[in-house]
Amino acid sequence: MKNILVIGSFGQIGSELTPELRKRYSISNVVAADLCPKPDSPLSEGPVEKLDITDAQAIADLVKKYSIDTIVNLAAILSAVGEKKPMLAWNIGVNGMLNCLEVARESGCAVFTPSSIAAFGPDTPADNTPQDTIQRPCTMYGVTKVTGELMSDYYFKKYGVDTRSVRYPGIISNVTMPGGGTTDYAVEIYYDAVKSGRYVSPLGAGTFLDMMYMPDAIDACINLMEADPLKLRHRNSFNISAMSIDPEMIAAEIKKHLPGFELVYDIEPIKQGIANTWPNSMDDQCAREEWGWKPNWNLQTMTADMLKVVGEKFAKGVI
Ligand code: NAD
Ligand code: SER
Repeated sequence: MKNILVIGSFGQIGSELTPELRKRYSISNVVAADLCPKPDSPLSEGPVEKLDITDAQAIADLVKKYSIDTIVNLAAILSAVGEKKPMLAWNIGVNGMLNCLEVARESGCAVFTPSSIAAFGPDTPADNTPQDTIQRPCTMYGVTKVTGELMSDYYFKKYGVDTRSVRYPGIISNVTMPGGGTTDYAVEIYYDAVKSGRYVSPLGAGTFLDMMYMPDAIDACINLMEADPLKLRHRNSFNISAMSIDPEMIAAEIKKHLPGFELVYDIEPIKQGIANTWPNSMDDQCAREEWGWKPNWNLQTMTADMLKVVGEKFAKGVI
């Protein structure tokens, strides 16, 4: 990777991945593009472009303008919002992604488009979900992710486009709030713990899902894109995980720092229904073997860091 175009760079992952890419590959070599760039964002320290991923010519123009060799495609409509706006989720998740692949084919770019735990469904083995298994998701978001995996492999096999991807679990972070997914609760719980000492969870006790702290998610993207292609037996997409947790486990860990914290439940049927179809825990052995995937954060270390950073934001009056 030398010159990188990050599409969807102002979202939860992009707002932290883009600065890290700039740190490693230089500020001027990483272009932050989004449908809604925010002018007061720290991303304005480098090149920023307004871009609609459904406009293939606009992507091609940016690739030419900045001599881009790698497209990091983060534009998506996440699971919960996707169930309310399925056609929009399809248009951005599939047509937008196909635009990236076509531009990459014509310009010789590599492409990273994350998949998700949402690429699995109720027929998938829920525990220790294998790398290669049944993928029959029930959500439009999941349908876009399976389509993205298949199309990315197709472009690699047919045209030699260097496509690589991971199936991200729920990402927990403290810079930008999540964008409307089923796993958002695992971020919100830390903010509410700091702000009010109480959280109302939309997912029930015992709802186990894979999760990961943002620094590991960033490392996964960069390490996979830098990996030796000869060692990759899989490409789109690799299971990766850092922890399999439910709301009770997060609450118990928060209580070690904030003993008065209270967790109550008000189940949201749409989110609970989605979570019930996703794996409890994924087997990420292939990622470990083929490109050295290994998470650095667990529930204990992540919770301590989240409460510290969110606590500092609260003290400054930023949240
Ligand atoms: P997000 O919703 O926070 O950010 C998406 C960004 O895409 C937003 O800034 C939005 O403005 C932008 N966008 C929307 N429509 C666009 C368009 N037409 N053209 C250009 N940009 C557009 O999402 P995220 O959480 O940062 O996720 C990034 C990627 O990682 C997605 O593919 C998502 O499916 C995947 N993923 C995320 C998680 C997670 O927990 N955050 C988990 C698994 C997979
Ligand atoms: N965090 C995402 C969601 O819940 C998972 O891909 O939609």
